[in-house]
Amino acid sequence: MSEKNITMPVNIDEQAEANQTRRSFLRKSVAVAGGAVIAATAAGRAAAEPLAIPPTNKILGRGVVSIPYGLPSKFEAHVVRRNVEWLTPDTIASISFTPLQDLEGIITPSGLHFERHHGGAVDIDPSTHRLVIHGLVEKPMIFTIEDLKRFPQKSGFWFLECPANGAMEWNGVQMDSVQFTHGMVSCTEWVGVSLLDLMKAVGVKKEATWFFGEGADGAALQRSVPLPGAKDQFGKPISDFDANTIYKDIIVAYAQNGEALRPENGYPIRLIVPGCEANMSVKWLRRIKFVDKPLVTYQETRHYTDGMKDGRFRQYTLVNETNSVVTFPCPDKKMSGKGSYEIRGLAWSGRGKVKAVDVSVDGGKTWKEAKLVDPVFSKCFTRFTMPWEWDGKEALVMSRAMDETGYVQPTLRQLIDERGTSGIYHKNSIQTWKVQANGEVHNVQLRSL
Ligand code: CO
Repeated sequence: MSEKNITMPVNIDEQAEANQTRRSFLRKSVAVAGGAVIAATAAGRAAAEPLAIPPTNKILGRGVVSIPYGLPSKFEAHVVRRNVEWLTPDTIASISFTPLQDLEGIITPSGLHFERHHGGAVDIDPSTHRLVIHGLVEKPMIFTIEDLKRFPQKSGFWFLECPANGAMEWNGVQMDSVQFTHGMVSCTEWVGVSLLDLMKAVGVKKEATWFFGEGADGAALQRSVPLPGAKDQFGKPISDFDANTIYKDIIVAYAQNGEALRPENGYPIRLIVPGCEANMSVKWLRRIKFVDKPLVTYQETRHYTDGMKDGRFRQYTLVNETNSVVTFPCPDKKMSGKGSYEIRGLAWSGRGKVKAVDVSVDGGKTWKEAKLVDPVFSKCFTRFTMPWEWDGKEALVMSRAMDETGYVQPTLRQLIDERGTSGIYHKNSIQTWKVQANGEVHNVQLRSL
């Protein structure tokens, strides 16, 4: 998003260092099991008088198919994607944010899935669209959409997160909205063809240790994805997790949430690379090429590298580490008087399942373990809840997620100590919301923690 110079690409030592760092984020305090008692709500205490007959009881409503494709109620018109006008020069190479504050459960409706385009969204006719798979293969092939649909289906509930999610917070900008601090992440049921089946069809050669996908959009976006045996551009092996696990889940998707992909999300086909920075899930996919080294494309140098404290930049940090955020209360959803509430939020990890989420209402002095709401899937949004009896006093509400590898979401201080403040990507630190006595909720950064 902002200009920067790539002083020196980072090598495997930094990769090892990064791995070391993620292990060092240990869970410090022991969680205490939650269990507040739900008291009567204000509504529940109201007198149970007979309700007046509403006007809708006295009319005939709309007939079937008066709206052939159903839309949300007009009273939900505020639940929309939004962009930040000052963030990018135009809306073509830009981002829109998912209204996490208004969503329930773990699925993002297709029309609210965040967008990130590098050359704008395009409309592609599926009858003429083709996918070519070539490079280090025995038998290069061209597929129509119908060809792809004849393969066995593979599907999953996976989140997609732009690695720039939270980017504006690095330098102290405080967006007073969960939509803008965390809305570059969405979660969808994706359906398509397994990459493994396509690899079998074309006969990928042993020398292939990477592939890249390419989009049919104005940016012709290209991103390299590792395969077993992958080495970086300096010839050093990349991490085992990246090389040996990422590719197994990958699909070429043609459907999301039960219907065809939306145009702004890659119609008619896109890659889905579960757990990894979302730009690797190339939209409007037209080409997959198997190669023996990463491409080091424009999008892998100009963008999507991580500034470090010493002024150098890390490349190929592919996995979205564990992250979480409280979606109620949040700046977009204030409190309405003291009493019983349920704190709710979302957690996710690019390395597998969310194992636990702790919630604090006192700025991290004490933590309680939240309830994880079923279902809990790998590389998917996980909903967490915790009952809260609010005493009407100021509170600092935070969540801290841990994934099944034992990695714990870091504090902002830990991230800044590791990477300084010049970064844009992979900001997954604990978010704090300050609940004021008047019920307003604001974004605060506890940079000393
Ligand atoms: Co990265």
